[in-house]
Amino acid sequence: MITIAETVAEVREQVKAWRKEGLSVGLVPTMGYLHEGHQSLIARACAENDRVVVSVFVNPTQFGPNEDLASYPRDLKHDAALCEETGAALIFHPTPEEMYPNGFCSYVDMDVLTKELCGLSRPVHFRGVCTVVSKLFHIVQPDRAYFGEKDAQQLAVIRRMVTDLNMNLQIVGCPIVREADGLAKSSRNTYLSPEERKAALVLSRSIFAGKKLAEFGETDAQKLVDTMKSIIASEPLAKIDYVKVVDLMTMQQIPKLDRPFLAAMAVYIGKTRLIDNFMMNAGGTAE
Ligand code: PAF
Repeated sequence: MITIAETVAEVREQVKAWRKEGLSVGLVPTMGYLHEGHQSLIARACAENDRVVVSVFVNPTQFGPNEDLASYPRDLKHDAALCEETGAALIFHPTPEEMYPNGFCSYVDMDVLTKELCGLSRPVHFRGVCTVVSKLFHIVQPDRAYFGEKDAQQLAVIRRMVTDLNMNLQIVGCPIVREADGLAKSSRNTYLSPEERKAALVLSRSIFAGKKLAEFGETDAQKLVDTMKSIIASEPLAKIDYVKVVDLMTMQQIPKLDRPFLAAMAVYIGKTRLIDNFMMNAGGTAE
């Protein structure tokens, strides 16, 4: 059975032993309830590192007061089986008290990139993400860490943090994994009723249409946004939080598709907030 470490000390001891043997270490930070999207990160990490640590921690500091912290799905047994079968060596599954002991009051915060997209509707989110991810980097000290492109803003924020704070590791972004019908895999898909699950397809339909438009040479960001919004508006169960086109590095909105860009959306299907996106270079080639 794969080892599940609950304390920082256990993880440090294990990583120290691996380092003594000269082994490289990869980290896959997750909030658990693992699906094929996470599995693709773990598989890539296993292919590129001698040992892989998967953290499973539903991080309270990245949830706002009215968000789904309490109901966020959890299944450690399933997660452990998936990690083991994919080749990970260790799961780090701390308690909230282990990560945030009494008196905790140090945070990692970021300007600019976190003030757009999900940062607007989730004001404390990226402070929580940056704080927990930098803690995980300090605890595990990996050579590489793996993040999904589905959370494209998170990936850009983490890359920026690593550059700005001189963190000594490589960040690897991995492509979105989709269901056969196009829906991006997400632990939150489990919240959807059968009717909502069908309605949720409007996100990927809208993403694919936007992508096609850009591939065919559209350079006006507003036209892309309008096309994507009109597709979402055709679904009565969908309510748009945002649909935006931003510079891939700075996350600031751009009028022209004249540089690498991210087209991103957050859409409520009933009470469930889902995100999806595509990234592209200027001229419609794949990012
Ligand atoms: O992407 C996630 O699951 C989380 O935001 C992360 C990176 C594990 C931090 O809690």
